[in-house]
Amino acid sequence: MNEELIREIQELKKEKDAVILAHYYVDGSIQEIADYVGDSFALAKAAVEDPRKTIVFCGVTFMGQSASILNPDKTVLVPADDAVCPMALMVDPAEIREMREKYEDLAVVCYINSMAETKALVDVCVTSSNAVKIVRSLPQKNIYFIPDQNLGSYIAEQVPEKNIMLGYGFCHVHHYMDPEDVKALKKDHPKAKILAHPECNRSIIELADYVGSTKGIIRYSTESPETEFIICTESGVEHELRRLSPEKEFYFAANQICPNMKKLTLEKVRDCLKNGAPVSKVDEETRTKALIPLNRMLELGS
Ligand code: 13P
Ligand code: SF4
Repeated sequence: MNEELIREIQELKKEKDAVILAHYYVDGSIQEIADYVGDSFALAKAAVEDPRKTIVFCGVTFMGQSASILNPDKTVLVPADDAVCPMALMVDPAEIREMREKYEDLAVVCYINSMAETKALVDVCVTSSNAVKIVRSLPQKNIYFIPDQNLGSYIAEQVPEKNIMLGYGFCHVHHYMDPEDVKALKKDHPKAKILAHPECNRSIIELADYVGSTKGIIRYSTESPETEFIICTESGVEHELRRLSPEKEFYFAANQICPNMKKLTLEKVRDCLKNGAPVSKVDEETRTKALIPLNRMLELGS
């Protein structure tokens, strides 16, 4: 069944001059057929650098939106247009305006996990792999960071010279990971290193031996001489971790699953290529405004 589907996808891909991008959190079957598998920053860059005129973005919808903002001449297909990251909706534009009125010397820094309308109001976007570097490089002392409070607190710790103020927002998958589950795994596997995504809350970050983006976690475990790891991020990364280090052990607590990332299926990839829909569309006025912080991220974050 899958072989037939995969053949159909490959044929449609050629016919439509399409590239398939997949985030590490989508199902392994999709990672297997993708041209690029990566974290949110690597995928945004791949969307710009790959010359093909159709992009199939296998991730949540803000990722497809960013690709369409950055590539107005390409068609960006989002196989599951209901795969919305709840954190991306947790921004109140009125609060951005209030902060701008209150502080003259302010940079509004926005996690890429946000909708185009939010990006249109901010100074620079970041992902978890470049947030510390970008915030540190900004000329402003006052930083209003939205929407991920956990990532924002982590940046504040790493960049103490800035006055970092946090908006409301969190990722329910990472925020509600239970430190007791991680401690129990550590008890069973005392030699295992704990690797955590900065979207996790403080109680997990404090237990971690390494904190980084999905790509950072994968790189750390691949390059490390250690052979056992407790992974505190969405379980989709397991596919790439095992592909790169089949001899190593990876342990996950229960429920590390993003239901929206799991809405992506091979069938939906095939159907969107066949139908040329759903397309990720952003109105031109929002797009041109949101392009500025995204381009700034590509410039400062590489
Ligand atoms: P990264 O891919 O940047 O690690 O982000 C994780 C995430 O939650 C994407 O939604
Ligand atoms: Fe959003 Fe969290 Fe899912 Fe990432 S893992 S898409 S931040 S809900």
